[in-house]
Amino acid sequence: MVRSVAKHSFSKPIILLLAFVALLGISLTRDFRSASSSAYVSLATTWARDKYRIVSANVSSNDSPKIQDVGGSNRDRYPERALAMTYADLPAPELEWEQMPSAPVPRLDGYSVQIKDCLFVFAGYANLDHVHSHVDVYNFSTNTWTESFAIPKDMANSHLGVATDGRYIYIVTGQYGPQCRGPTANVFVLDTETRKWESLPPLPAPRYAPATQLWKGRLHVMGGSKENRHTPGIDHWSLAVANGKALEKQWHKEVPIPRGGPHRACVVVDDRLYVIGGQEGDFMAKPGSPIFKCSRRFEVVYGDVYMLDESMKWKGLPSMPKPDSHIECSWVIVNNSIVVVGGTTEKHPVTKRMILVGEVFQFNLNTLTWSVIGKMPYRAKTTLAGFWDGWLYFTSGQRDRGPDNPQPRKVVGDTWRTKLKLLH
Ligand SMILES: *[C@@H]1O[C@H](CO)[C@@H](O)[C@H](O)[C@H]1NC(C)=O
Ligand SMILES: *[C@@H]1O[C@H](CO)[C@@H](O)[C@H](O)[C@H]1NC(C)=O
Ligand SMILES: *[C@@H]1O[C@H](CO)[C@@H](O)[C@H](O)[C@H]1NC(C)=O
Repeated sequence: MVRSVAKHSFSKPIILLLAFVALLGISLTRDFRSASSSAYVSLATTWARDKYRIVSANVSSNDSPKIQDVGGSNRDRYPERALAMTYADLPAPELEWEQMPSAPVPRLDGYSVQIKDCLFVFAGYANLDHVHSHVDVYNFSTNTWTESFAIPKDMANSHLGVATDGRYIYIVTGQYGPQCRGPTANVFVLDTETRKWESLPPLPAPRYAPATQLWKGRLHVMGGSKENRHTPGIDHWSLAVANGKALEKQWHKEVPIPRGGPHRACVVVDDRLYVIGGQEGDFMAKPGSPIFKCSRRFEVVYGDVYMLDESMKWKGLPSMPKPDSHIECSWVIVNNSIVVVGGTTEKHPVTKRMILVGEVFQFNLNTLTWSVIGKMPYRAKTTLAGFWDGWLYFTSGQRDRGPDNPQPRKVVGDTWRTKLKLLH
């Protein structure tokens, strides 16, 4: 499904085609501006389906479009044929999803950590103008939202880094407040047994949504966006921690990550640290805006996978089946596989619309291979995933506009589960 145009193969028709695409881009500018001012919660517009069809998975459900891959005869009529098709839905098996109790509030860019049968869900946006300042707790044994409690006043509300050792939850840096406000370098730790918060030494510099994980007794923080929210950072710092306490006064420099940027999954399995997907660039505050209004900037979403082992040298592993970002808490580890639920992929190459991901992916760490193992009930980004008693759960995030429109729309608190079936 994934195609790209090699530079050397540009022929005259393709150059004409690109000229057409450029003209189209100009005609869309006005529309695009209105979209950027209302940012990702409400991208305006009509999806030009007739001209630029979304090639969706060859699915069997009745309410889904049955659009097959665009055939050879359509080659000249459909410019996307010649462009990277990374945004398209991939063929994926249907899964039977069961809807569970919704979270107390809708959440975009929320964060979560599973400890035993509980999912702790932190902060996030209710919408671009309102952020949450509390934790909601879901119990997988009772399938109920059992509790809510406050986060510290000076903790970030989105773009956090989170990690746990099974009792303490470490929360580093992130964006403080709504819209595209500035970041804080503050670091906190929650004792989930006492519900008490403590402070830890602040990061050397604030970051937006850095890859964060506990690894070999140290809290590692990598990449993210720098202070302007857009420039990818590649710095990597670590702090020795134990039982919710810092064992050092300062963060140490570590080997920088090969590719920077925010919104990646960061997972430790068997003493190896994996950093999966992500993007370079993000929305930024509009210069001079008193409310730090978000405005869209150039972004590149990628599916790169990097791994650190005891050699402390980054290794590249096979990329995801498509570029995927906004997946910080959209993963679970089951039977030596990492399962990733949803996300957001490269923008549509012609319309520049944001495109959400509706697939469930499996990265088998025995074989280092990726598979598409299922289709979600809808496409969604910043899902918060959990696994309990054979069930794969996800809650919250921002969902699509419908089966035939993968653009982001509603911020939701909906919770779903399905019996997880892995491929060997
Ligand atoms: C797609 O649908 C066609 C027609 O229904 C069918 O022949 C084909 O096997 C399907 N392909 C996949 C990958 O499911
Ligand atoms: C979740 O609920 C079950 C059943 O009431 C209870 O045994 C368990 O301790 C709860 N989990 C946590 C972490 O509180
Ligand atoms: C994981 O492995 C166990 C033991 O082999 C098996 O019983 C279980 O079904 C597997 N889980 C999944 C989701 O495949």
